[in-house]
Amino acid sequence: MKDINLNYKNSMVNKDEMYKTLRLLEGEIVRMNEAKKINYLDDRASINLPTDAQLRKTVKNVVHEKLKLKPNNLVVVGIGGSNLGTMAVQEALLGKNYNLDANLKVFYADTVDADNISSIIKHMKKGKTILNIISKSGTTVETIANFKVLLEELKKKVVNYNKYVVITTEKESMLYNYAVENNIDVFEIPKKVGGRYSVFSPVGLFPLAMLGVDIDKLHKGATRMVKLCTRTVKLNPAALSAAVLYNNYMKGRVIYNTFLFSNDLESLGKWCRQLAAESLGKVATIKMSSKNVGIMPIVSIGSTDLHSMAQYYFGGLDNVVHTLVKVNEKNKVNVPNEKNGLIDDLNKLSLNKIMSAIYNGFALALAKAGRPYMEIDLFEKNEYFIGQFMQLKMIETMFLGKLLNVNPFNQPDVEKYKQETKKILKLS
Ligand code: PA5
Repeated sequence: MKDINLNYKNSMVNKDEMYKTLRLLEGEIVRMNEAKKINYLDDRASINLPTDAQLRKTVKNVVHEKLKLKPNNLVVVGIGGSNLGTMAVQEALLGKNYNLDANLKVFYADTVDADNISSIIKHMKKGKTILNIISKSGTTVETIANFKVLLEELKKKVVNYNKYVVITTEKESMLYNYAVENNIDVFEIPKKVGGRYSVFSPVGLFPLAMLGVDIDKLHKGATRMVKLCTRTVKLNPAALSAAVLYNNYMKGRVIYNTFLFSNDLESLGKWCRQLAAESLGKVATIKMSSKNVGIMPIVSIGSTDLHSMAQYYFGGLDNVVHTLVKVNEKNKVNVPNEKNGLIDDLNKLSLNKIMSAIYNGFALALAKAGRPYMEIDLFEKNEYFIGQFMQLKMIETMFLGKLLNVNPFNQPDVEKYKQETKKILKLS
C-alpha cells in the first residue's frame, strides 16, 4: 500500500537549515524508540496504541454487544480531544452528510449548546440510542452537564438504560467509578495518553467501529507511520515537516495553515488545529528565561477558502506556511456536454479535473509569490491513509514541542477559563 508522500521542495528552507534542525531531533527519535518498548509508561505512549491488538479486540466485543440492541442513534458526548478525532475520521470516511441516509445516525454533544442538545433529544425520542460518554478526567463541565441531560432522556426511553451507555475515561476517575457502580461498560484511557493524542484508543475506536469504520486498517496505517517516523531523521516525514515549520516559524511565519482540498476533511483540519494549538502554544523556558511561543494553526478548505483567504495568503503579511493536501475523490462527476453560453469550454471536463487544476494553479501561484508550502500530493479517503495522516501529525507535534522547548503533552493554561467558570457557577 502507498505511503503519504511529503514534498517540501517549496518550503523555502535551505539544506543547511534543514540539516541543523533535523540533528536537534535525533535524541527525540531515540526516546521515541525507547517509548515503544515500555508500552504506556512514557509521555509518548500514544505511539503504542496502533499496535495494541488486545485493545481492538475489547472494543470490537463491546461494539458487537451494542449493535445487538439495534440502535438508531449513537451520541458521542465529549469535547476537545475526546470527540474531535472521531468527528474527523467519521466525516473523512463517511462524509459530512452521512446522517442523511444512515441506519445508525451519529450526533456529537460537545459544547453545552441548548439548541444542539434539544435537536439530539428529538432524535433520541424517535429511536434507540447508545450514549458514549468520553472524558479522560471525568470532570469536564460541558461533558458531565450534557451527559446528565441526555441520560435522563435515555432513562425515559428504556428501562435497562445502563446497557445503552458506554463510558470511556481514565481508571478511577469519578466517571469510572460511576460506570462500575451502575454496571455500565467502561473503556479505560491509559494515563499517559492525553486527549488530543487519543484517537487510536477507545476514545476514537469505539464510536468509529460502531459506525462501521475498519479500525484494523486505521491502526495499520498508523502503525506504518510510527515506523516511518521513528527512523533516521533524513527519511522521517514527521521530522522533515517539523523542521520546515520550525524554520519558517523562526523567520516570522508563525501561522501554519493545513489546506485540505476536500469538504469532508474540514473536521480533520480542526483536529490538526487543536493538536497543534494545545500542544505548542505555551510558555517555554529558554536559557533560564520564560518566553511565550507557539505556532498558530489554521485550517482552509480548497477551493472554498480560496474565495475567502487567498487574498491574504498572497497579499497579506508573509507570516503563513501551508501544507497543501490534494485529495483523490472517490467519485467522478462530469460537466455535461450541452452548450448554453455559460463557459462552454468547461463542457466535458470533470469536476475532479477542475479541482486538480485549481490545486495546481494555487500551488504554482504560491511558488511564484515566494510563499512557502509543503505538499501531501495524494491523499486517499480510506482508513489506512487517514491512520497514517493522523499519526504523522501527532509525531510532528511531539517533534515541534522539542524544537520549541515546550512540553507538548500538557495544557496548563486551559485551566484558566475553567477556574473562572467554576467560580461563576459556584462549583467546587
Ligand atoms: O487534548 C486534550 O487534552 C483536551 O482537549 C481534552 O481532550 C479536553 O479538554 C476534554 O477533556 P476530558 O477528556 O478530560 O473531558
